[in-house]
Amino acid sequence: MSGLILAIETSCDETAAAVVDDALAVRSSVVASQIDLHAPFGGVVPELASRSHLELITTIVAEALTEADASGADLSAIAVTSGPGLVGALLVGIAAAKALALGWGVPVVGVNHLEGHLASVYLARRDVPFPHTALLVSGGHCMLTRTARPGSYTLLGETVDDSIGEAYDKVARYLGLGYPGGPVLDRLAETGVDNLGFPRPMLQDGYDFSFSGLKTAVVNYVRQHPDFVVADVAASFVAACMDVLCTKIRRALEEFGDEAVAVVGGVAASPILRRRAQAVADEFGSALLIPPQSLATDNAAMIGIAGWQKFTALGGSDPRFGPEPDLRLVYS
Ligand code: KG4
Ligand code: ZN
Repeated sequence: MSGLILAIETSCDETAAAVVDDALAVRSSVVASQIDLHAPFGGVVPELASRSHLELITTIVAEALTEADASGADLSAIAVTSGPGLVGALLVGIAAAKALALGWGVPVVGVNHLEGHLASVYLARRDVPFPHTALLVSGGHCMLTRTARPGSYTLLGETVDDSIGEAYDKVARYLGLGYPGGPVLDRLAETGVDNLGFPRPMLQDGYDFSFSGLKTAVVNYVRQHPDFVVADVAASFVAACMDVLCTKIRRALEEFGDEAVAVVGGVAASPILRRRAQAVADEFGSALLIPPQSLATDNAAMIGIAGWQKFTALGGSDPRFGPEPDLRLVYS
């Protein structure tokens, strides 16, 4: 067997490995989440994350290879997230990838985590239309881009303060709902009513986003109303977020009329966002490209897909690359 990429992702609190073939089919995807490790602290503790990656990485890589019935001899390259993310966490994945690449005599490809999320559209369908509009909503990012082709992006707008996942996590922490906040707020929102009139920041302002004022509005409301109904707070917060995200998607579809719109990143696991985004796509007769719920949050399959695209276009990376915690997308 040949034409396989082994991919490794350790940018935050998931230790993940996957095997992806040259037709971009995922042969295996293993994700070990550290949620239980960080939950008592209400957020990711960087030093604990690095140590845990170190303990898990060998087993997770071995599991991914076994599940794909592959060995080092079958690999064309090893792809690994080079940034953005936590420096110590990234370092573990990169060191593992380089060591394996050296041992097996294959090139190593450094992959931008954001390109990984954008490439996760291939986990939705293989014949991805270009150009397409893409909303990337995660714990670290919130941006609207247009992808002309793999590796070629235009930025339409991004958050001027918090990412949306960060806002979810901070609101959840304030409400004592634990970490990560997205899934629990989402579930609660389904049972509450959007009746608190929270602001929809920057709704009328082009393509940029802002979530810090909304988060403060929630905190102020809760402080002033000790008898608050938590499900209604969740429903009102989530509705405000969704209105903003969907307004920006709608604006882009109106302006560019793309045949498809992608919604990617951890918050794309939200059933509420999935429904709302589908409704906007339907309004315009566009296809919604959204990874399966389990592959919206961090995983290595998306890094394998982006890795193949980069490897095919540019070959292996200079093996001297290191972690780039603040790596950004390059826009054309
Ligand atoms: O993409 P991701 O796994 O990591 C980053 O690259 O940041 O995104 C993690 C974020 C967290 O903020 C988490 O609260 C959010 O995704 N998230 C969700 C859901 N599942 C995860 N947000 C809303 N609804 C969900 N079901
Ligand atoms: Zn991510």
